[in-house]
Amino acid sequence: MKLQIFTIFLAVALSDATNINHRHADIAKRQSSSSSSSSISSATATSASSVTTGATSTASSAVSGASGTTASGTSTTGPPASATWGTSFPPLSQISSGMPSEMTQPASTTYAAGSSPTYYSAASPLPSPFVYSAANWPAQDKVPDTSSSEVQEWLKELDGFDIPDIDQTVDGTCGSSPAAAQNASARGWWTCGGWTRDTDITVCPGKKGDWGLSFDDGPGFYSTKLFNWLSEKKILATFFTVGSRVIERPDVLREEYMAGHEISVHTWSHPHLTTLSNAQIVAELGWTRKAIKEVLGVTPTTMRPPYGDIDDRVRAICLAMGMVPIIWTRTPSGFSFDTFDWEIPGGTVSSNQSFAQFNAILGNASSLNDGFVVLQHDLFEQTVDMAIGYTLPAALSYNPPYNLLPIGQCNGIPYTNMYLESNVNTTFPYPSNSGTDVDGDGSGEAQSKSGSSSGSGSSNAGSRQISSTSSIGLLSMAAIAALWVAAF
Ligand SMILES: *[C@@H]1O[C@H](CO)[C@@H](O)[C@H](O)[C@H]1NC(C)=O
Ligand SMILES: *[C@@H]1O[C@H](CO)[C@@H](O)[C@H](O)[C@H]1NC(C)=O
Ligand SMILES: *[C@@H]1O[C@H](CO)[C@@H](O)[C@H](O)[C@H]1NC(C)=O
Ligand SMILES: *[C@@H]1O[C@H](CO)[C@@H](O)[C@H](O)[C@H]1NC(C)=O
Repeated sequence: MKLQIFTIFLAVALSDATNINHRHADIAKRQSSSSSSSSISSATATSASSVTTGATSTASSAVSGASGTTASGTSTTGPPASATWGTSFPPLSQISSGMPSEMTQPASTTYAAGSSPTYYSAASPLPSPFVYSAANWPAQDKVPDTSSSEVQEWLKELDGFDIPDIDQTVDGTCGSSPAAAQNASARGWWTCGGWTRDTDITVCPGKKGDWGLSFDDGPGFYSTKLFNWLSEKKILATFFTVGSRVIERPDVLREEYMAGHEISVHTWSHPHLTTLSNAQIVAELGWTRKAIKEVLGVTPTTMRPPYGDIDDRVRAICLAMGMVPIIWTRTPSGFSFDTFDWEIPGGTVSSNQSFAQFNAILGNASSLNDGFVVLQHDLFEQTVDMAIGYTLPAALSYNPPYNLLPIGQCNGIPYTNMYLESNVNTTFPYPSNSGTDVDGDGSGEAQSKSGSSSGSGSSNAGSRQISSTSSIGLLSMAAIAALWVAAF
């Protein structure tokens, strides 16, 4: 039954663009009429012309919606901006798919070209403020074309690596690809059984009580609210950012980076990476890396696969391109540290259920010897309200309290090494001659394939499959994202 609901939802989201546009025009209207503050510059009126993001623009001034299908000439906007409401949040029972939207805030500080973060030495200065030009970027929220000169150039980064010849999965779930599912452990397929390799980051090793805090899919309309709350509490996190969002809200990303949050790659269009060809994976990672570089002047050395969907082929491509995969914690019994906050906007999980899941994570975490990594999101208002109103305060008031910090930090990776330009560790992220097992075949790259093998690296041997409901539920994320993109 759940499958049917999701399928219908997905179908509605992806096919009935007219309805979506109407629905979201309504939402936009409601939002702007409820605003007493001045509205932001139109998110939809400029499709081809560039959106300047200098000191005068707001963080919420999005570039045109997906694939340029914007209602140009209309004066509808995204949620209106206001600097007044700070970090308030509604009662838990009111956090739902139907909750009225609050106003959004722009980034509070815009940083000039040449400013440098003060928290790590050798930081690159910020480049000139990012100027979006549709001609320079692939369509948002679609797997980018692989014939572009950029992608062809990035493909050369795979030279010298033994990228395993593993067939693509149908939709990233076990159920749709039974042959692949049977071979999930040999493929190191995380989404189908939680299989990992030694090169994956999934915990805060040896640091019981450490909480690797992460927010995926931004920068979004409500990321600034989360940012403000984290700033008040002096807590830093890792943001796994989507390229299609980065080009919309570069000021929000700059503010996160300048404050010391870690910035990592989370693909261009949020697909299940095991479903894509090698070249498509390169395109997803390459365009996001380029967007972050143009906005921040740095290139992340880490990435997170959407939905955790990674296998040895995807992993080898990520590592060959200089990005270490970071997933989230899964206990040996198969309990995934996913708060399911992302299912609240679609109405498939209630805020109470998500909070209960969160409390189960807290309980399960206390029995681990390592610190752990939890999956949360900053794309939606509901997920931000859950974090700042409920889950993070619960983590801080737990007895003993958890130590919330970015994932690189809880893995002992200094800021310098989170970015290519300042990385000083020659074996991170695993160049081809490092002797590290990049392709998951059990022996180090560019070394004798004989000799002592480090084993399969399947540290989760014996773990069970993730329940199929959660895999199916993942579809709704794409649907929700599609709705949002269509809206703004
Ligand atoms: C299982 O996966 C391994 C590693 O990718 C591969 O060598 C092997 O051919 C696969 N077997 C089947 C039956 O697909
Ligand atoms: C959610 O939990 C709160 C507090 O425990 C409770 O008052 C409320 O009735 C619950 N709502 C639903 C829909 O279960
Ligand atoms: C661990 O998580 C499970 C849900 O999978 C939950 O039933 C259980 O209560 C949790 N354990 C603790 C100690 O909280
Ligand atoms: C460099 O990176 C490798 C791979 O992550 C790690 O094992 C090693 O400890 C790092 N070295 C330093 C000095 O940080």
